[in-house]
Amino acid sequence: MKRREFIQFLGFSALTVSSANLLISCSKLKRQKLKEIIGIKASLKDELILADGFSWRRMISWGDKINSSEFFGFNNDYINFVPVPGLKDEYLLWVNHEYVGPGKVLMSGKERNKENVDKELQAVGGSIVHIFKDGSNWRVKENSSYNKRVTGFTPMSFSNNQEIRGSKKPIGTLANCAGGKTPWGTILTCEENYHYFFGERKFGEEKISEAYDGWNKIYPYPPEHYGWVVEIDPLTGKGVKRVELGRFAHECATVVESKEGLVVYSGDDKDGEHLYKFVSDSKKNLDSGMLYVADIHKGKWLALDIKNEKLKKFKTQKNILTYVREAAKILGATPLDRPEDIEINPITGEVIFTLTGSKKNKNYYGKICKISENGNYTSTDFSFSDLYIGGEEAGFSSPDNLAFDPFGNLWFATDISGRKIGTSKYSSFGNNGLFLVPATGPQQGKIIQIASAPVEAEFTGICFAPDGKSLFLSVQHPGENSKGNGDYSSNWPFGDNQMPRSSVVQISNKKFFG
Ligand code: FEO
Ligand code: CA
Ligand code: CA
Repeated sequence: MKRREFIQFLGFSALTVSSANLLISCSKLKRQKLKEIIGIKASLKDELILADGFSWRRMISWGDKINSSEFFGFNNDYINFVPVPGLKDEYLLWVNHEYVGPGKVLMSGKERNKENVDKELQAVGGSIVHIFKDGSNWRVKENSSYNKRVTGFTPMSFSNNQEIRGSKKPIGTLANCAGGKTPWGTILTCEENYHYFFGERKFGEEKISEAYDGWNKIYPYPPEHYGWVVEIDPLTGKGVKRVELGRFAHECATVVESKEGLVVYSGDDKDGEHLYKFVSDSKKNLDSGMLYVADIHKGKWLALDIKNEKLKKFKTQKNILTYVREAAKILGATPLDRPEDIEINPITGEVIFTLTGSKKNKNYYGKICKISENGNYTSTDFSFSDLYIGGEEAGFSSPDNLAFDPFGNLWFATDISGRKIGTSKYSSFGNNGLFLVPATGPQQGKIIQIASAPVEAEFTGICFAPDGKSLFLSVQHPGENSKGNGDYSSNWPFGDNQMPRSSVVQISNKKFFG
């Protein structure tokens, strides 16, 4: 089938000239003959509920040993796979461990002392876990020498041996939310809500804001050492904080390779913050390039460049990159309702992203949006439009993580905060969910709920297994508002009166995935 026919077969015949230019990988997509899928109804049950035909099994949970001295971290998020050199059907599973938050009562305790904070530093960052295929299941290879943790204690460096706020050697990574993967097989793990741990500071000031988790009371590390995209070599666990990609609450770092170059998209997940892209000078590394921020109204990417007179107060490019939010506002970047995940539509080449919502702007349910770059990903012009608006009619609220499967179907997960789930404005949505938007078939373009999460949990890290035959999913923060000491708001996944545990699950459906 020729590419044009294939696009028509996929139901995307009305492509614009610019998006047709962006097509990069639709010839790699697998074909699927989808029959009607009956979605599930919203639920408040403390269970992982799936649509008919789908099943799940637990892969690994917080607290599970991964080697003789380390355990799988807390609040699992972003997932990706890297092949194990020389071994067929064996992969290193990278999993982010994001935050501690109110769920810290399950792990450490509210009191901010060294013992509690040390437990928390050990529980964030990421896990590298060797997995192998056993029939249709993926299993953890216990005691593989590859199994290791990256934590809040792991020594790191800044890219190009730069010094930030008095040091070339930042300690640890934290707030690891979503991420990305480079064409050379390293993982990009994103430091999102760093201010919870070490606070924040404005350019040119000394005062540090209050930090919710108060780690700075025990370890007075500079806030400027966090909020970066960290490139991890999964074979060694070594990490480099990529200064050139800027410092803000990075939700994700979505890499797209086109014939013109390498581009990394990232959203700053804070109400009123912005959408960014980094254009690399090289297709082989992220060592140099330019960071841009979006002016959505004018459809322009604005360069965060010290050569711009408006930014001269920052004196150096490094200062702009360290205090990006302040520089972006000077340039007139568009404030957005909490930019979350970003994915490239493999069929149309468009850049799809979520805005999870804004109470301040009365955008209670969020939306899924798209950007069409003008001609290529390195372009400084684009057009913007809404794709799906959240709300009762659409059946979802607070979209967050996105992924396209090997067939080009869009999957997304929602993140209604634990305190809002089931309350008046959100009662119709039930617990958080996982949704599918088919690219073909009788329900093409429709939103179908495939899964409902346990109490207070969110689905994150949507990632398809290397063979494309199952979906890996992080079930994050079940029962995070538990009081502790046996008083749990969720007992997932082990039931009875057991403590809730964030876990990675494998979701299968032979009819769907083949
Ligand atoms: Fe960690 Fe914006 O989600
Ligand atoms: Ca997220
Ligand atoms: Ca994603």
